[in-house]
Amino acid sequence: MDIKLVLNENFVSISAEVILNSIQKKLKQRPTCSIVLSGGSTPIPVYEKIIKIWHEYKIDWSACYFFWGDERMVPADDKENNAHNGIIHLLDHLPVDKNKIFRVDTGLSPAEAATQYSHTIEAFFSETGNKNFDLVLLGMGSDGHTLSLFPHQPILKDMVSTVTGYYVDESKGSRVTMMPILVNNSSGVVFLIKGEDKSLAAYHVIQNNLADKYSYPAKLIQPEDGNLLFIIDLDAASQLDACAG
Ligand code: 6PG
Repeated sequence: MDIKLVLNENFVSISAEVILNSIQKKLKQRPTCSIVLSGGSTPIPVYEKIIKIWHEYKIDWSACYFFWGDERMVPADDKENNAHNGIIHLLDHLPVDKNKIFRVDTGLSPAEAATQYSHTIEAFFSETGNKNFDLVLLGMGSDGHTLSLFPHQPILKDMVSTVTGYYVDESKGSRVTMMPILVNNSSGVVFLIKGEDKSLAAYHVIQNNLADKYSYPAKLIQPEDGNLLFIIDLDAASQLDACAG
């Protein structure tokens, strides 16, 4: 686990640079790069920064494949739809191959959409010869959730499924989410965590080894062979013990 502690005002630019460097490095090593985009609001200014600076990295975006780590089961053009936001704030502004963008079908039931998405991912791996995702971008909620893995949900005990669809509660509605077994098989995971409201959860997820992973599901993300990087601003890191390893 690596922690990149950044000044609040540098969070967006450093996050964009880390992501672009990671993609550039991967494309020097292999012909394709598979990227799992995060939902939520934190990544949006980072996506917008990537649009502005990517030319410095000379990335062949047509060689990149795009997925989402989770999706809210709302209409495809809904402002709450994670893929919709990733497309309007990022992919619509890059020379990507639109046939390499894979969204959750929110017109299906959560279970059907999850099954279909898992098959889409399996087909991607088998057709390209990839065994895992190259880069997974994640956010974290103030309750320590990530993806749509929310605290104390029964699905957290599922260590077999790669993608799951379920009804969370009245406020969050139904979700489809990649599961730990799939994300933990990836080559690299980058958490983007910003804001004071995340500080207590950040302490429990990053530093408190006694914290329960079912209370703080972001702790379930532990890539076996991949790298785990937390890009965290000073506000979100305010409860981390600076002396801790
Ligand atoms: C979602 C996300 C979720 C998000 C966190 C943080 O669909 O909401 O996938 O895991 O990353 O809730 O969201 P913010 O970046 O908006 O704080």
